[in-house]
Amino acid sequence: MKDNDLKKFQKMRLAGNLASKTLDMITGYIKPGITTEKIDQICYEFIKDNGGYSAPLYYRGFKKSLCTSLNHVVCHGIPSERILDDGDILNIDITAIVEDYHGDTSRMFCVGNVSVKAKNLINATYEAMMNAIKILKPGVRLGDIGYEIQSYVEKKGFSVVRDFCGHGVSNVFHEPPNILHYGKKNNGLEIKPGMTFTIEPMVNAGKYDVKVLNDGWTAVTKDKSLSAQFEHTIGITDNGYEIFTESDKGYNKPPYNN
Ligand code: MF3
Ligand code: CO
Ligand code: CO
Repeated sequence: MKDNDLKKFQKMRLAGNLASKTLDMITGYIKPGITTEKIDQICYEFIKDNGGYSAPLYYRGFKKSLCTSLNHVVCHGIPSERILDDGDILNIDITAIVEDYHGDTSRMFCVGNVSVKAKNLINATYEAMMNAIKILKPGVRLGDIGYEIQSYVEKKGFSVVRDFCGHGVSNVFHEPPNILHYGKKNNGLEIKPGMTFTIEPMVNAGKYDVKVLNDGWTAVTKDKSLSAQFEHTIGITDNGYEIFTESDKGYNKPPYNN
C-alpha cells in the first residue's frame, strides 16, 4: 500500500472503532420501552464525548444523528417518539466522523422475543455480508461481492434490495464506487489496495421492492415484509482486507449476551 493509504487507514480505524463502540455501548439499552429518539440522544452524546461527530446530522437535511429502521423499514428510519415493543427488530446505523474520516456501521437488534422468521432473516443477512467480506482481496471484482450476497440470500428464500447500495467512504461520507449487493461473478470494477468502502446488504423477507415515505427518508418494503441490514466499513490491503468497524465486544449478530 502507498504511504497515503496507510495514513488514511489509520484514521479509518479511529472512526470505524468509534462507530462500532457506539453500537456496543447502546446494546444494553435496546429493550421494550425505550424510544428511538432516546437511542439517538444517547449515541449522539457518546460520539461527541469520544471526540467524534455524527455524520448523518444535517446530512442532506437529515435531522437526527443516526438511523433507526424498525421491522419493515429497510433503511433511513428517522428516530422518533416510537417506543420499542416486544417482538420488534431494529437496525441502528451509525456513522462517526473522527479527524474528517468516516466509520459507517450498522447492526440488527432483537427487542424481547422475536419470531423465528425474523431471527432467520437477521442471521442470513449477517452471513451474507460476511461471506462477501471474506473473499475480499486485490483483483476481486465488485460483481463477485454482489454475487456472494445475492446467492446466499436467495438460497435462504429472501430477497436483496436493489434501490440502495454500499459506497466508497473516507473523508467523504458517500463516494464512488457504488457497491451493489447483487451481481454476477467476474463482473465490474476490480478492487485495489487502499480502497475503502462499505458493504451493507438490506435483505427482505418478501419481495425486494422498496418505497420511500413522504418524509423523504424512510424506506419501507412495498409488501410490508420484514427487512434486515448489517453494515461494515472495510479497507482493501495488499493481500486481503481489514474491517474497521469490528465490535470490540464480539457483538456481531444477535443474541449479543450483553
Ligand atoms: N449510514 C447510512 C449509510 O450507510 C446513510 C445514512 S444518511 C442519513 O450510508 F442521512 F440518512 F443519515
Ligand atoms: Co453506508
Ligand atoms: Co450506514
